[in-house]
Amino acid sequence: MTPFRFTVPLRLFFCLFFFTGSQALADSCTTSQCHDNMGKGEFVHGPAAVGDCTFCHIEKGDHSFEPIKDVGALCVQCHEKVDIRSVGHAPVREGLCSDCHDPHQSSYLYLLKAAGADLCMLCHDDAITNGKFVHSAVADGGCGTCHNVHSGDFPKLLPAVGNQVCFECHFDKAEEINDDKVIHPPVADACVNCHDPHSSNYMNILSREGNEELCFQCHDDKNEEITTSLVKHGGLTTETRCLACHDPHLSDQSRLLVMGPAELCLSCHDREYVKPSGTVADMKTYLAERPELHGPIADNDCSSCHNPHGSSNFRILREPFPERFYAGYNPDNYSLCFMCHEENLAEEPSTLTMTGFRNGDQNLHYIHVNKTVKGRTCRACHDAHASRNPRHIRDAVPFNAWKLPIGFTKTSTGGKCLPGCHQLFEYDRKKPAKNR
Ligand code: HEC
Ligand code: HEC
Ligand code: HEC
Ligand code: HEC
Ligand code: HEC
Ligand code: HEC
Ligand code: HEC
Ligand code: HEC
Ligand code: HEC
Ligand code: HEC
Ligand code: HEC
Ligand code: HEC
Ligand code: HEC
Repeated sequence: MTPFRFTVPLRLFFCLFFFTGSQALADSCTTSQCHDNMGKGEFVHGPAAVGDCTFCHIEKGDHSFEPIKDVGALCVQCHEKVDIRSVGHAPVREGLCSDCHDPHQSSYLYLLKAAGADLCMLCHDDAITNGKFVHSAVADGGCGTCHNVHSGDFPKLLPAVGNQVCFECHFDKAEEINDDKVIHPPVADACVNCHDPHSSNYMNILSREGNEELCFQCHDDKNEEITTSLVKHGGLTTETRCLACHDPHLSDQSRLLVMGPAELCLSCHDREYVKPSGTVADMKTYLAERPELHGPIADNDCSSCHNPHGSSNFRILREPFPERFYAGYNPDNYSLCFMCHEENLAEEPSTLTMTGFRNGDQNLHYIHVNKTVKGRTCRACHDAHASRNPRHIRDAVPFNAWKLPIGFTKTSTGGKCLPGCHQLFEYDRKKPAKNR
């Protein structure tokens, strides 16, 4: 702006040598070698076309010209005001009409100084459209698809507020959101929390790599949990990372899971994984072969025992559980089971209430489990997932290389076992059995 203010009167001053009188001056400005390109071009502004230069360039007495101090005010002498709506574009509000429009002529429609996005980039950083992935709405439709240029009714000159801008075209997303699903809070808040409306260097015009980095931007605690856990879950490091299990927008499932919780686990655990440290069993087949499902599994809830984001307990268990057949008794080692079951089940030598695993009042959980060394851990008899026997008693338990059989039979008041540990023993809660 500033240079023009001085050059206008200076350059027009030369016309003085040839003409006197303002209309004569105006008529002849364009035919002289001074401004012979004025009023010529593909699109010519009405008053310039007819040579009425002096409507806009006020001549001072000595044939120099007043600098045009307020271009906006000048334009509205003939045009309607354009910044009529509540949110004005800064250069329009400031009356800098000629920053975008050439007051004389132009090769672009509406006397613009450049076409399409190039016009905007006269002032805005072209980095906004320089990302590797450009939003189709920008690439195909240009800036005007979403922004008013002079003034608008909504912030940032947008045609609506918030996500409504996006829903104009992404109406499928709008429908899903109205469809009574669990919505990820940042989605309900603003699509632009994650997506750049213009362009980005990341797929799906996301503000960061979308499978994981984006998530950590807000879920820093998860990053912490994952990096500090000693036992890592292989499910976190598949190609799609977090998105293997979570939908970034919404879901019918709680926790934005991409499918039902157990179905999700079994979608990967339908095969055996072989790792240097051992194998991870094919849980889908294992469960299919065992009709007696443990409570939480019947409820499709694997995460009550396993932390899908990793843990510092073996097998990504949420709470400690002994890894082996034998362990010295310490209730803390069994916190996994005691999240849901009576903690004192193996505490008292004799009881009539704490457990059904008793012979008369002799607590057989106590007998087996509660020893300073070599207590039998729960796994010696129970399967945490499923079994073919009542009370989740296993058929057999790994005893190093041997599959030690349990040989359990339940009766109405007790049961009997013929395990690989000892000969047939019976227990009866009503009439204590006499074993040898
Ligand atoms: C509708 C108003 C208007 C009319 C009509 C008009 N001008 Fe201008 N002219 C301007 C404005 C506004 C500027 C200053 C541009 C700026 O500062 O951004 C300007 C700048 C100029 C300049 C200096 C900058 C440049 O673009 O070279 C010259 C020379 C000029 N006008 C000559 C003329 C001549 C000759 C005519 C008649 C053919 C004419 N103008 C008609 C508004 C007008
Ligand atoms: C002296 C009166 C007058 C002034 C002052 C004036 N204009 Fe115009 N302008 C016109 C006329 C007349 C037209 C042609 C109207 C038409 O074709 O409908 C026009 C057309 C336009 C157009 C539309 C061109 C098109 O292709 O439809 C634009 C943009 C424009 N003027 C911008 C400006 C700007 C910016 C200023 C201030 C620098 C300005 N005008 C000042 C009279 C004026
Ligand atoms: C940031 C750039 C920019 C500024 C600043 C700007 N315009 Fe425009 N103007 C445009 C564009 C782009 C168009 C093309 C039509 C559209 O997209 O609305 C346009 C169209 C016009 C038109 C013709 C169409 C219509 O809406 O009648 C007029 C007249 C006009 N502008 C006048 C002005 C006036 C007067 C000012 C200053 C108060 C101004 N413009 C400031 C970019 C601008
Ligand atoms: C003459 C310079 C100029 C041109 C050309 C220009 N703008 Fe601007 N624009 C500005 C300025 C100055 C601001 C205010 C910046 C700020 O407040 O940070 C602005 C702000 C904006 C804003 C943000 C408004 C807000 O409330 O934060 C949008 C959106 C915008 N411009 C879009 C456009 C589009 C689209 C174009 C092209 C049609 C364009 N601009 C062309 C100078 C310009
Ligand atoms: C699909 C719709 C859409 C298109 C097309 C679009 N924008 Fe935007 N633009 C937006 C939205 C939405 C925002 C607000 C972003 C936010 O709030 O973080 C925005 C914000 C802006 C801002 C303000 C920057 C800021 O950080 O506040 C500018 C400047 C801007 N756009 C310029 C442009 C330009 C230039 C073009 C054309 C190259 C363009 N826009 C095309 C939707 C769009
Ligand atoms: C004017 C229509 C329009 C508007 C408004 C619009 N989009 Fe789009 N968007 C499109 C089109 C067209 C595509 C390409 C669709 C396709 O390829 O299937 C697209 C694709 C996308 C994609 C996928 C990116 C890719 O690379 O394919 C995302 C993410 C997206 N838009 C987000 C948004 C967000 C966020 C908003 C609101 C700020 C928005 N869109 C507003 C038209 C629009
Ligand atoms: C929490 C971050 C986040 C928010 C907020 C968000 N998205 Fe996304 N969006 C993503 C991620 C991540 C992807 C990539 C999905 C993939 O790779 O499967 C994506 C993909 C898309 C796609 C392309 C693929 C598809 O699902 O069609 C569109 C379109 C899209 N988003 C639109 C939107 C709209 C509209 C909103 C606002 C209602 C929105 N997004 C809000 C993270 C987000
Ligand atoms: C812009 C911030 C933001 C980003 C980015 C983000 N989230 Fe969220 N997310 C939240 C907020 C806020 C909540 C609700 C509060 C909470 O549970 O922490 C939430 C909740 C969740 C929930 C729990 C939903 C429920 O039903 O309780 C999951 C799962 C989730 N986000 C996963 C993701 C994943 C996966 C990503 C990456 C694709 C991601 N988030 C990216 C902000 C974000
Ligand atoms: C293997 C599947 C899986 C992967 C991969 C996964 N999650 Fe989860 N996530 C879950 C399950 C299942 C839950 C629900 C746990 C529950 O019910 O307590 C959950 C819950 C969440 C929650 C809600 C809070 C909580 O802990 O219950 C957030 C936030 C979350 N995940 C973020 C992430 C992020 C971020 C990533 C990527 C680093 C990710 N998840 C990867 C399965 C997964
Ligand atoms: C996207 C695929 C995928 C999903 C979904 C998945 N996992 Fe995994 N999981 C794996 C892979 C791969 C391994 C093998 C780990 C390795 O190689 O370190 C694994 C290992 C495990 C292990 C053994 C960990 C160890 O190192 O001892 C357990 C337990 C487990 N997953 C439970 C679950 C549960 C519970 C769910 C559901 C919440 C689930 N997984 C969902 C892929 C998945
Ligand atoms: C009641 C707690 C509990 C529930 C619920 C649970 N698990 Fe486990 N899971 C365990 C325990 C304890 C182990 C370690 C068993 C062992 O070492 O004998 C384990 C081990 C595993 C293993 C490794 C198996 C191996 O030894 O190779 C996988 C895979 C696994 N669970 C998947 C699942 C899946 C999938 C679900 C949901 C269908 C699920 N778990 C539900 C407690 C549970
Ligand atoms: C998340 C809660 C939860 C955890 C953790 C849990 N259980 Fe259970 N358990 C249940 C529910 C609910 C039932 C009742 C339904 C059924 O028979 O499975 C049950 C039943 C049982 C039964 C059969 C009881 C009967 O009356 O038939 C045994 C045995 C058992 N659990 C052992 C264990 C062992 C061993 C552990 C630790 C590895 C454990 N549970 C961890 C919830 C849990
Ligand atoms: C030596 C085998 C054995 C061991 C070790 C064992 N249990 Fe049991 N448990 C049983 C038998 C047998 C029953 C069935 C009792 C009945 O109803 O007849 C049972 C029943 C249960 C029940 C059902 C409620 C009750 O007490 O009757 C729970 C819960 C249970 N056990 C949990 C555990 C937990 C937790 C551990 C490890 C701390 C464990 N058990 C260790 C054999 C064992």
